[in-house]
Amino acid sequence: MKMPVEKCHVDEYPILRQEDLGEGWFRLDIEAPEIARETRAGQFVQVRVGPGDDPLIRRPFSVFDVGPEPGEEATEVRLLIQKVGPGTTALAQLREGDKVRLMGPLGHPMPVPEISTDGALFLVGGGIGVAPLYLYCRERKSENSELPIKVLLGARRESLLIGHQGFIDLGVETGLATDDGSAGHHGNVIELLDQYLGEMGPGADIAGIGCGPHGMNVALRDIAIEKELRFWISLENYMPCGFGACFGCVISGPEDGPLRYRRVCVEGPCFPVEELPATF
Ligand SMILES: Cc1cc2nc3c(=O)[nH]c(=O)nc-3n(C[C@H](O)[C@H](O)[C@H](O)COP(=O)(O)OP(=O)(O)OC[C@H]3O[C@@H](n4cnc5c(N)ncnc54)[C@H](O)[C@@H]3O)c2cc1C
Ligand code: FES
Repeated sequence: MKMPVEKCHVDEYPILRQEDLGEGWFRLDIEAPEIARETRAGQFVQVRVGPGDDPLIRRPFSVFDVGPEPGEEATEVRLLIQKVGPGTTALAQLREGDKVRLMGPLGHPMPVPEISTDGALFLVGGGIGVAPLYLYCRERKSENSELPIKVLLGARRESLLIGHQGFIDLGVETGLATDDGSAGHHGNVIELLDQYLGEMGPGADIAGIGCGPHGMNVALRDIAIEKELRFWISLENYMPCGFGACFGCVISGPEDGPLRYRRVCVEGPCFPVEELPATF
């Protein structure tokens, strides 16, 4: 199998703008035309966060958006980043004109399942998991797709629902959930999904893609398996290399299936729920 790294680009690219979004989140827009036009929602880039050639100093980030529009004319790679440690803190210092070394696009795009117009494709995001879902919606919009997308986003409180306005501006039905009830449903996003499923009733044509913190992903897998729904989950496992060489991101298959290990960076990062073990 050809490693995606043979098909991806590695170079230094200039920062076009950096925007502080509050709560430790920021957006980084980078002029990287060859990566921008080849990236599809769900793929990611490895970003070098300091000098030197040690691959461990690269950090993986989903492509949040490409601009000005997805497709062949795209020239910008846009990242939505949460400061959590030294690498993301270093990236937050970059300003217009600085250069950053990117490798990408990496991983496989998210699936685009067929759904009848009276069904629903749920995009369920928690925290920074919102990032790849926005490009997914932008791509469908640019194709004039009639996919019945419903975006459900969860966070601890309203100020952490970063990026939700972008979905509303695209005209996508968007439901919110916050743990403290400061916006939308008072509770978690899986409860909100359950409410939507209840309203649609049995027999509705339903599929979904989730991307969020580990606890949300596990709960999403459980509800999708229990209700026999076509769901995929995009994983954000620790990825030292991001291109299949180190096996540092490996997950196993379901406990009741054949023992099968997959590298999240090259076989994923998005997997059908039935291919995930109960704990992953
Ligand atoms: C496919 C994928 C897509 C991601 N997309 C985004 C995104 O769009 N926006 C965003 O803010 N974050 C995203 N992340 C998470 C991001 O990679 C980590 O937050 C970042 O690497 C932390 O680096 P740090 O040096 O600031 O913190 P550290 O102190 O190094 O780590 C803080 C946390 O990040 C985890 N982490 C560290 N290095 C990696 C690594 N190489 N791979 C995965 N996790 C790591 C650690 O396990 C720890 O939990 C994504 C991760 C993956 C695997
Ligand atoms: S991160 Fe190295 S093999 Fe996946």
